[in-house]
Amino acid sequence: MKKILALIMSAIMMLSLVACGSGDSSTDGDVKTYKVGVAIYEFNDNFMTLYREELENYFASKETDTVKYDVQIVDGKTDMAEQTNQIRNFITQGVDVIICNLVQTSSADTIIDEVAEAGIPLVLVNREPLAYDAEGNPIDEAYEGIIDNDKVCYVGADARQSGTYQGEIVLSLADNGDLNGDGKVSYIMAIGDPENIDAQYRTEYSIKALTDAGVKVEKLAEDICNWQQTEGEEFVSSALAAHGDKIEVVFCNNDGMALGAAAAIQKAGRTVGKDIYLLGVDALTECIEMIGNGEMTGTVLNDHIGQSHTAVDVAIKLLAGEEIGDYYWVDYVKVDKDYVDAQ
Ligand code: GAL
Repeated sequence: MKKILALIMSAIMMLSLVACGSGDSSTDGDVKTYKVGVAIYEFNDNFMTLYREELENYFASKETDTVKYDVQIVDGKTDMAEQTNQIRNFITQGVDVIICNLVQTSSADTIIDEVAEAGIPLVLVNREPLAYDAEGNPIDEAYEGIIDNDKVCYVGADARQSGTYQGEIVLSLADNGDLNGDGKVSYIMAIGDPENIDAQYRTEYSIKALTDAGVKVEKLAEDICNWQQTEGEEFVSSALAAHGDKIEVVFCNNDGMALGAAAAIQKAGRTVGKDIYLLGVDALTECIEMIGNGEMTGTVLNDHIGQSHTAVDVAIKLLAGEEIGDYYWVDYVKVDKDYVDAQ
C-alpha cells in the first residue's frame, strides 16, 4: 500500500513540475490561463498610473469561466537597462504576450528583435518608436514606418493632434492669448521627456497652430521637466521670477507639469484667465475640475481608457492567433471651459 501511495505521490509531483515549467498558457481542467507581461516605463507618472490600472481592470473584465489572465506589471523606473532585464525575464518565464511602454523608444528595435525571436507577440504602447534622420529629428513620413512584424503593433495617440488642440484652445480665447495686447503671444514651455515624441510634437504643434493662424509668438523660456509636477513647479516659478508679467501663456506638455505650474502661478500672485493662461494635456480629473472653476485654461484628453482597452483587445487577438494591424490610433479630445461646462 505504502509503495502504491509513494508512486501516486511522485506521479503527482512530476505532473505539477511539468505544469510549472511549461511556461506557456496553462490549462487546468476547462480553464486556460494566459500569462501577460506588462512593462511600464515608470510607475511614478500620473497618466501611466491611470493607464496601467485601467489595463489591469479591463483584462480582469475580459475573463470568463474558462479563460483567465495572469497579468504581471513591472516598473521600469525610467531605466532602460532595468526594463530590458524585465523583458528578458518575461521571455524566460515564457509569457504568452508582452505589453510594453518603452523607457527609451530608441531601444525599440532591440526589444522587438528579442521578443520576436522568442516567438512572443508584442504590443507597444504610449511611447511611439519612430524613425529618425541623421540629426536626430523624427522623420514625419516614417510616422507609421518602423513596425513591420506580424506579431508586433503599436497602440497610441498622434501627439501632433494634442499639440494642435492646445494651440487651438489659445486661439479660441477672445485675445488669442495676447493678454497685454502687444501683438504677440509671449509664452513659456514645460517640456516632458525630450526623447519622447509626445513631448517633441506637443512642443512643436502647439506653437505651430498659433503661427499657422498668423499669430506672432515669442518664447521666453522652456525647460525639460520630465512629465513631473515638482519639476514643472520649479521651472514655472523660476520663469515667473525672471520674466514676470511678460509671460502670457504657460504651455505644459502634460497635466502633471501643469499642476506644478498652477501652484507656481498661484504663489507668484498671478491669476489664470485674468493675467495668464495655462494649458496641459491628459485631462486628469483634478485638471478638469480646475478648468471648470477657471484655475486652468484648457487641456487635451489623452484617452487612457480607449488606449488601454485597445491594447488589451489587440493582445487578446494575438493570443487567439488572429491577424492584427501595425498601428492602432486613439483620438485626443479638446477640453476647454465650454467642453467641461457642457459635461
Ligand atoms: C504622455 C502623457 C504624459 C506621460 C507620458 C509618458 O502621453 O501625456 O503625461 O504619461 O505619456 O510617456
